[in-house]
Amino acid sequence: MSQTENIHNIRPINEQDGVFLNSLMNCPSVLQALNEVPSKLQEWTDAIKAWQSDVDEEDYIVLYGNTPIGWLGINGLLNEDKTVYLKMAALLPNYQNRGFGTAAIQKLMFMLRQKGFHRILLYTDQDNYAAQACYRKCGFKIIDSLTETMSNGKIIPRYIMEVSL
Ligand SMILES: CC(C)(COP(=O)(O)OP(=O)(O)OC[C@H]1O[C@@H](n2cnc3c(N)ncnc32)[C@H](O)[C@@H]1OP(=O)(O)O)[C@@H](O)C(=O)NCCC(=O)NCCS
Repeated sequence: MSQTENIHNIRPINEQDGVFLNSLMNCPSVLQALNEVPSKLQEWTDAIKAWQSDVDEEDYIVLYGNTPIGWLGINGLLNEDKTVYLKMAALLPNYQNRGFGTAAIQKLMFMLRQKGFHRILLYTDQDNYAAQACYRKCGFKIIDSLTETMSNGKIIPRYIMEVSL
């Protein structure tokens, strides 16, 4: 399969995706990059159910062909100023640094633009250079910095990045 032909698809998450999210979100390097803690399958099946009844949120599976390789999550869909937040971007380690994240986020940006949204904001760790490079390729710029306490208890310097749609 050519890398350029099949990387552009994202589809809405569904209840069968709990197993995939559980494996993605327990990969050691993904946990480390996100400053997250290990989780259990039930947490992901419960989370997907909650997201599906939350009109402020949408979650997408990134596909390579038909194979799930990542997760994009947005929230803030009800914001009056038409600004949404990219709350999650994560790919399986074997699919990172191959342009798939950029392609998937660009697809999401296209969909959000068509739905009338004006801007996307995100938070990222200051030392997550791959994520920043990916977001920059999508047009995001750093607009602010802050320090946050993450799920694993670490206190991390972070950037806020934005892109206009
Ligand atoms: C962040 C993530 C979604 C980006 O998707 P991706 O497919 O890997 O990103 P891309 O391949 O499109 O772009 C990554 C860029 O970072 C560059 N890069 C990788 N490591 C780097 C480093 N240490 N320093 C500088 N640039 C780096 C790559 O070369 C690439 O740029 P290029 O295309 O100009 O060569 C993915 O890497 C991921 O899932 N990481 C783990 C979870 C995570 O950190 N999520 C983000 C939380 S804010």
